[in-house]
Amino acid sequence: MSEGSRPHVLVTGGAGYIGSHTAVALHEAGFCPVLLDNLDNASIEAVSGVREICQEDLPFHQIDVRDGASLDKLFSDLYAQGTPLQGILHFAAHKAVGESVAQPARYASNNVGGLAVLLETAAKHGVNNVVFSSSCTVYGEPSQVPVSESAPFQTAESPYGWTKQACERVLTDHAQSLAGAHVALLRYFNPIGAHPSAIIGELPLGVPNNLIPYLTQTASGIRQKLTVFGNDYPTPDGTCVRDYLHVMDLAEAHVAALKWCKTQASTSSVVRAFNLGTGQGASVLEVIQTFERVTGQQVAHEIGGRRAGDVVAIWADPSRAQKELAWSTQRDLATSLQDAWRWQEKLGR
Ligand code: NAD
Ligand code: WQD
Repeated sequence: MSEGSRPHVLVTGGAGYIGSHTAVALHEAGFCPVLLDNLDNASIEAVSGVREICQEDLPFHQIDVRDGASLDKLFSDLYAQGTPLQGILHFAAHKAVGESVAQPARYASNNVGGLAVLLETAAKHGVNNVVFSSSCTVYGEPSQVPVSESAPFQTAESPYGWTKQACERVLTDHAQSLAGAHVALLRYFNPIGAHPSAIIGELPLGVPNNLIPYLTQTASGIRQKLTVFGNDYPTPDGTCVRDYLHVMDLAEAHVAALKWCKTQASTSSVVRAFNLGTGQGASVLEVIQTFERVTGQQVAHEIGGRRAGDVVAIWADPSRAQKELAWSTQRDLATSLQDAWRWQEKLGR
């Protein structure tokens, strides 16, 4: 299928970790992903990687989502060339929890402000299908696990978490104000791994905050030792429990969510939240042990103190996504960690 005959969809943050993998999944499903990124936290090589995997010169635009004039022109140009946008997958945002504490206004401006500009432009051009990158962070410390979509939001632990709660509210209000708006709020648990080709993956800048890139960098000798943040939690082995899902499973969930948006009645407005996770929790020590087993690499690690703000244990009840999106994870923790390691080996030291 040539680029021109595929339904075009906008992927903001398309050069980033999850956006780039989703672009591949969209292309595989017959869409033409139009990549947009300001390259604030990404490299142009990710765009080349997506093009290489898809074997197609997919469109890329270096635009900031807060630049309403450039967005407006992009939407108009796509319409004029006979490929109007069929939907938007909105990934573009700042995502570092610690940084958000130091720079709350920057996070509000980019994450909430960026969404607002995008929605105004989309409404002007009649683009009504929106898939949004939310996070399990909206739940805070849940009162029961697995957590379902009906669990109440807790007061946000960080300005980053607040931006996700605020964006969900903006999208909910937007859908209520606009006839025919179809919005999927995708609450990701912990995405990990990389495309099995190792052509694209996660590119953390500087010292990683997240467990998996820190772990793979330790195994490859870039970091000396991984610190396990606390082993005195009320969990089976004392370390925190999370729901780690493969980034390609997550990518495929976006395709399912986009299709869900497209099948909603054109006159009715709908907003729906979906948890995206495996439904299984794994502790920090289980992750390290699984990684060592499947890769044969040793991970130097030590037990340290707790990290401020960490939730003790959270994993998803993904049954709504299974039922309504016909989606479930296909790759297990071992596969996700193998793919994360393959990507790290390619990056080298
Ligand atoms: P990422 O930083 O790799 O990707 C985000 C991309 O958006 C980057 O390429 C960045 O350059 C771009 N960007 C940021 N602000 C922009 C702007 N104003 N205009 C245009 N481009 C902009 O992050 P990711 O891990 O791929 O996360 C994607 C989305 O998923 C984010 O909204 C994030 O909050 C959310 N999310 C991520 C995780 C996770 O663990 N990675 C978990 C839950 C939710
Ligand atoms: C996982 C586990 C750590 C690093 C964050 C955001 C969340 C979401 C996903 C965007 C925890 C432990 C980590 C290390 C460790 N992002 N750990 N040593 O904290 O679950 O979620 O990313 O929405 O909002 O908060 O992910 O990968 O940082 O940590 O022991 O060096 O690994 O304590 O238990 P987290 P993480």
